[in-house]
Amino acid sequence: MGLQEKVKKVFAEKFSGDATLYASAGRINLIGEHTDYNGGFVFPGAIDKMLLAAIRPNATDRVNLFSIDIDEAVSFGLEEADAPAQQWARYIFGVAREIIKRGGTVRGFDAVFAGNVPLGAGLSSSAALESCFAFAFNGGAIEKYELARIGQSTEHNYCGVNCGIMDQFASVFGRKGNLMRLDCRSGEFEYFPFSPEGYQLVLVDSRVKHELADSPYNKRRQSCERVAARLGVDTLRDADMAMLDAARADISDEDYRRARYVIGEKQRVLDVCDALNAGDYETVGERMYETHRGLRDDYEVSCEELDFLNDLARRCGVTGSRIMGGGFGGCTINLVRKELRDKFVDTAVGEFAARYGHAPQIYDVVISDGARRL
Ligand code: GLA
Repeated sequence: MGLQEKVKKVFAEKFSGDATLYASAGRINLIGEHTDYNGGFVFPGAIDKMLLAAIRPNATDRVNLFSIDIDEAVSFGLEEADAPAQQWARYIFGVAREIIKRGGTVRGFDAVFAGNVPLGAGLSSSAALESCFAFAFNGGAIEKYELARIGQSTEHNYCGVNCGIMDQFASVFGRKGNLMRLDCRSGEFEYFPFSPEGYQLVLVDSRVKHELADSPYNKRRQSCERVAARLGVDTLRDADMAMLDAARADISDEDYRRARYVIGEKQRVLDVCDALNAGDYETVGERMYETHRGLRDDYEVSCEELDFLNDLARRCGVTGSRIMGGGFGGCTINLVRKELRDKFVDTAVGEFAARYGHAPQIYDVVISDGARRL
């Protein structure tokens, strides 16, 4: 049974009758990692891994949810004090609250949802959930960028992650066949038709997630903010290497390296856009490898398994490869010449499994639409 049929059927079983169907999507990011909360550029796109929800107003003040994948029901009211304990339900509660805080209206509803965005792979399953419900509650009244912000505020205020805007932006604005270059300082963005002749994007999901203590993601962000404050700029978007070097004596070595990565990454995104416009995929690939090195050595968000996959990609002759998303596990994104795809995938699966005892999961990326009503 397809995802749509399943969601409809389970909705009918749990609540009887029909509901409106909404979809949203996970995302990839070609380049521009840990730049969003630094006011920099990102280059994401939505993918064909979806989140589907059947949603129907119930004329009460209560929300009744059923997650098919977790096989769990949760019910809550819409006041601040009604926050559910379950993390997955907090994403939806948070979105409703953020809309209410902005003066919008959300009334009670019944909803059933399911998805095939892998969890913990760095493909932003949580942003897909937030964007789907934000889109559904919106009723056209809220402009789309604000919907992405509502998802982001949900992460900040209800889930403890001080994320940037990239994931929610990608799942709200995603368009089939297009990547998007977003300037996270101004909110301006551009669609980039993306179908590189002779190449394809392949994700290799290590299926490891290193849960590190005291939220390393938030700590990275704090490092960047400390350096920006020291340099007297709003965000590292407004800093360059000369400014950073001039202040080096007053910055810890760790913070210096974090900022060096971010400043380098800003330029790499712009280089990749130019290279794509020129059809120069070799340069795109080189920048991806550079990003991996920066995330590994300076930003320190990689891990052994991802470094192994990155080395392996290079050995196989893959054009570009790097860790994708927040880090500490999840997947690498690989720009691969089509004729090399099968050999690369076979080698990655075989060697990774031999070393780590489990096979990675492979996803051939299809750039797809983001949040929408079906
Ligand atoms: C996570 C966050 C994003 C972004 C990436 C790193 O996916 O949710 O906002 O910061 O990490 O680029």
